[in-house]
Amino acid sequence: MARKMLIAGNWKMNGLMADGVALATEIKTAVKSKKRTCEFLVCPPFTLLTSVKKALRGVKVALGAQDCHFNEKGAHTGDVSPLMLVDAGCSYVILGHSERRADHGESNELVCQKAEAANKAGLKTVICIGETLEQRDAGKTIDVCSKQVMGSVPEGATAQNTVIAYEPVWAIGTGKTPTAQDVEDVHAAVRKVLAKKLGKAQANKMRILYGGSVKPSNAKEFLSLPDVDGALIGGASLKSVDFMAIADNAGC
Ligand code: 13P
Repeated sequence: MARKMLIAGNWKMNGLMADGVALATEIKTAVKSKKRTCEFLVCPPFTLLTSVKKALRGVKVALGAQDCHFNEKGAHTGDVSPLMLVDAGCSYVILGHSERRADHGESNELVCQKAEAANKAGLKTVICIGETLEQRDAGKTIDVCSKQVMGSVPEGATAQNTVIAYEPVWAIGTGKTPTAQDVEDVHAAVRKVLAKKLGKAQANKMRILYGGSVKPSNAKEFLSLPDVDGALIGGASLKSVDFMAIADNAGC
């Protein structure tokens, strides 16, 4: 079963209108410049969604948001619903990023609720998991990630509507990365948990991305691993040259 590589940029809380449109325009040109075998996704802040969507018109780059509420509408000041994201042109939403789990106390249960609502609205989810340094040092990486998958991925998840992103918290924005073997071990373990939860067929088709200090120089090492089906890129996704070099170096 061939899993199509997904190269995803998480812009986080970065970019004013002009920056976002310029970055999207550069990505559009680069994606169009040659035949691509991977899928591209960019996830700008809410304020840039509609203008980035416009800038990407005519090229196959999917648009995603970085969070959503689990309700369709109502009295939830400051929140954005899955339907609103669809309305803004999104086909994806990142959920349960470690920064949201840490900054906003998001639990597995909440992430799961959001994922169900997002899928119901027609969005694909990128559900993030990953251990802290303390958990890693205590030898709990696989245990922590397994529990996050069991708790955050909804029963109705399929390979079509769900992507998992393994992002070790200590590797995010630090320049530090696990070894390729560590990454492969976690991804293989995650796939086993997915098989237990969703059945082997879905688990074998579901994409599991690696995220955490991915850059052009280490892209090939991670993206050539058998259970790594793409990358979720933070810092390096803010420079079109680096973002595209990651895809190029991964051979897609
Ligand atoms: P960096 O690529 O900046 O380490 O961020 C990774 C990340 O958190 C993507 O969601």
